[in-house]
Amino acid sequence: MAVLTETEILTKRDFLPLHGTDHVEFYVGNARQAAHYYRSAFGMKLVAYAGPETGMRDRASYVLEQGKVRFVLTTALRAGDPVAAHVHRHGDGVKAIALMVDDAESAWRETTSRGAQSAAGPAELRDEFGVVRTASIAAYGETLHTFVERSSYRGPFIPGYKPAPEEDIVSRPVGLLHIDHMVGNVALGDMNRYVDFYRTVLGFDLYQTFDDKDISTEYSALMSKVMSNGNGRVKFPLNEPAAGKRKSQIEEYLDYYQGPGVQHIALATNDIVDTVRRLRSQGVEFLRVPNTYYEELEGRVGRIDEAVTELADLGILVDRDDEGYMLQIFTRPVEDRPTLFYEIIQRKGSRSFGKGNFKALFEAIEREQALRGNL
Ligand code: FE2
Repeated sequence: MAVLTETEILTKRDFLPLHGTDHVEFYVGNARQAAHYYRSAFGMKLVAYAGPETGMRDRASYVLEQGKVRFVLTTALRAGDPVAAHVHRHGDGVKAIALMVDDAESAWRETTSRGAQSAAGPAELRDEFGVVRTASIAAYGETLHTFVERSSYRGPFIPGYKPAPEEDIVSRPVGLLHIDHMVGNVALGDMNRYVDFYRTVLGFDLYQTFDDKDISTEYSALMSKVMSNGNGRVKFPLNEPAAGKRKSQIEEYLDYYQGPGVQHIALATNDIVDTVRRLRSQGVEFLRVPNTYYEELEGRVGRIDEAVTELADLGILVDRDDEGYMLQIFTRPVEDRPTLFYEIIQRKGSRSFGKGNFKALFEAIEREQALRGNL
């Protein structure tokens, strides 16, 4: 495992300065109902809408927020639309990871000149609230990175979107703060190709590496490398399946998503016990590890501020490294296909990804895989 120091990260010239994740856009089969789920279960607030009523004839799009987390749920209104084709192939999933920049055109120029495939050239969108500039490049599979420049924009999202009514009676926030990291699954043998893509094209650095010795259970394995941008605000772990006795969870994902895509989105909180309690009471389903995980917990991770009984009750996992500890928990997939799921994470000093939990966690995932007949 190699971790860059803060100085190593800061002294490198950054040709693609990123302020963080602007938003994540999902293509879904029914955006109105998906929006209701993210509002009622995850407590996100509806802030903007675009559709036929606002002059967008072919799609409907709902913008949801909590803390700095912003999701856009988009659906097609007719067959034959690229959004419909995407949903037909992949099911509901992430189409674009949008990154906040000062200059969208420069971001597009810097990345395409380094080999990125352009998905949409620089565009300027205007309405009464100001100007937003965007441009997109292809990432893994059909996933895109969109650069969003919105410094002077005062509207609810981007031009074309209408503000939602101030009150959202469905939304009950749970304390989500921002996106900690977003993980992509790629095909066997492709991980290093995408590590090179993020390094060469976006100027990211390799932040941590996990091989199949770190991440293997009796049955299946995977490999993972974490890429980080210069200021550490954007982290993209990339997974590929590794050989095991049975089908890797990554292969199951690739089968059902029909190719590479976003596997999970980690959402940060500063009170994971409260956040998970609220999410559970609002119907979010989490993976469970056996209770034996908690018997030796403080022996493994040392003293922690939280009550172990409370963590055991909710199924929250803990891991420690040289810098501190972190708490994490994973939802079940949020679609019928076993594809995208969420992680809730609270960092208390640790900047790593819960390596000590991989075994217990992946065994929990495999129990679910087996129930689906895919192990
Ligand atoms: Fe994660």
